[in-house]
Amino acid sequence: MLVMRRSYAAKKRPGGNRRALSPLLAASTDAGGLTRRELLKLTAPLLLLGALPAGLLAAPQAARAAGPVLPSKEVQAALDKALARSVTKGKAAVALRLVFHDAGTFSAAAKDGGLNASIQYELDRPENMGLKRGWRIVEQVRQDLRGTAAEGVVSDADLVALAGAYGIRICGGPAIAVPIGRPTATAGSVDPPGRMPAETFSAAELKASFAAKGFNVKELVVLSGAHTLGSKGYGDPNRFDTEYFRSLLRKPWLAKDDAMAAMIGLPSDHVLPDDPECLPYIQRYAEDQEAFFADFAAAYVKLTGLGVAGWA
Ligand code: HEM
Repeated sequence: MLVMRRSYAAKKRPGGNRRALSPLLAASTDAGGLTRRELLKLTAPLLLLGALPAGLLAAPQAARAAGPVLPSKEVQAALDKALARSVTKGKAAVALRLVFHDAGTFSAAAKDGGLNASIQYELDRPENMGLKRGWRIVEQVRQDLRGTAAEGVVSDADLVALAGAYGIRICGGPAIAVPIGRPTATAGSVDPPGRMPAETFSAAELKASFAAKGFNVKELVVLSGAHTLGSKGYGDPNRFDTEYFRSLLRKPWLAKDDAMAAMIGLPSDHVLPDDPECLPYIQRYAEDQEAFFADFAAAYVKLTGLGVAGWA
């Protein structure tokens, strides 16, 4: 997508420095220091993509206190250092899965659940098996941020979203501009159970599960592309690329004479290419990495804003 490649040269700022900002591809901006007009210019393309919550555009001053803002340069620098220490390529998959399992408890109808770091109190649920390793990343990063510009500015819920995005980036995926400002769930409070999709779901059940969180079919398909990372057999486990979609079109799991190929993917992946609504998106992302990255970035920002009051 063209807009992904475009850079937006920032206007000359009072401080005299010029900066280029590319939407979605920018890891950070010092949005707190921008004038309202500059902020409008920079965020308009993101809003067109549906990538940033409207609050950031509508009220930058108020947003600084309560709503989504992008990390300042100093905060971003501290984050980059701490994230680099804890989010290795080998941990990117679990960091990304942690995001889905924290945010995925959201219900649009009940208006509860969502990305609030309550996953730390839900790690013993069967669907969250293996995610303790993911939560430890957040704890380590929080510890490493002590005494830096990010301490007290970036919440645990933000760290869940940021660690996932960092993992995507170091594995060759898009650099996603993740706003911060999410409240963290109060100690011990859990989100309602039974809201995560099961790997045995049919395509219709997956669509319904995602619709209940406010996602359409395109977003179901593009977010499922996260399975390009990890051990489900979609090419290099540490590489965020289009292999997931290319594999869904080849259907290696049908191979009768190849036991290894038959292990590739989850049943919930296998049903997607047989669904007439999902198939066109799979075909598109299989041949167009830029489209995959752009749509994934927008859906990721939406996913990581689920349940955050004032962000929708
Ligand atoms: C569509 C419904 C989904 C279902 C039923 C599902 C289910 C699963 C299951 C059963 C695993 C294997 C866990 C294991 O190996 O122990 C897995 C892995 C994974 N899932 Fe999903 N998932 C879904 C969507 C998503 C989404 C939307 C994301 C993120 C945006 C995501 C991210 C991941 C990642 C990164 C892994 C690999 C984890 C690793 O290897 O450590 N999944 N998923």
